Amino acid sequence: MPKVTLRPSLEVIDIPEEKNLLTALRDAGIYVKSSCGGHATCSDCIIKIVSGEDSLTPPPFEELKLLGNVFHITKERLSCQTKITGDVTIDLSNHDKSRDQERMRSKTSQFSKSRTVRRTKDEQKEQQAFKDSEQQTATEERPAKQSGFKRPKRKY
Ligand code: FES
Repeated sequence: MPKVTLRPSLEVIDIPEEKNLLTALRDAGIYVKSSCGGHATCSDCIIKIVSGEDSLTPPPFEELKLLGNVFHITKERLSCQTKITGDVTIDLSNHDKSRDQERMRSKTSQFSKSRTVRRTKDEQKEQQAFKDSEQQTATEERPAKQSGFKRPKRKY
């Protein structure tokens, strides 16, 4: 079974040849970021190949479409599209679970803050519209009562 050496932890893991690196690393409890679930659409699962590039399966069309044909320059592959046939060393320093969770938390809080601000602005507009309509009806009410006219109900 081929071995994968992980950097920066220098952990060594046996990976079955039939599994792609994303699945095999996750099965081994190693965090690799992914948004598309291994469908080659997000490019979050990029890993850097430090050594053993001859032991990798060639990039499929989906990977080439996403990353281009620049592996010889960047040494980057999509872990969800890469299988290994021999020993490889990869760099996972871009996949930090706590950092990703912190980013997600801050994005979520920013989103909820902006929603709250938007909601309060909408409420203010609604209250202002209500006040305006109250003033308008107050001025219209007097002659209406005198003439016996019944005001139609508001549709809010
Ligand atoms: S998991 Fe999304 S591209 Fe690999």
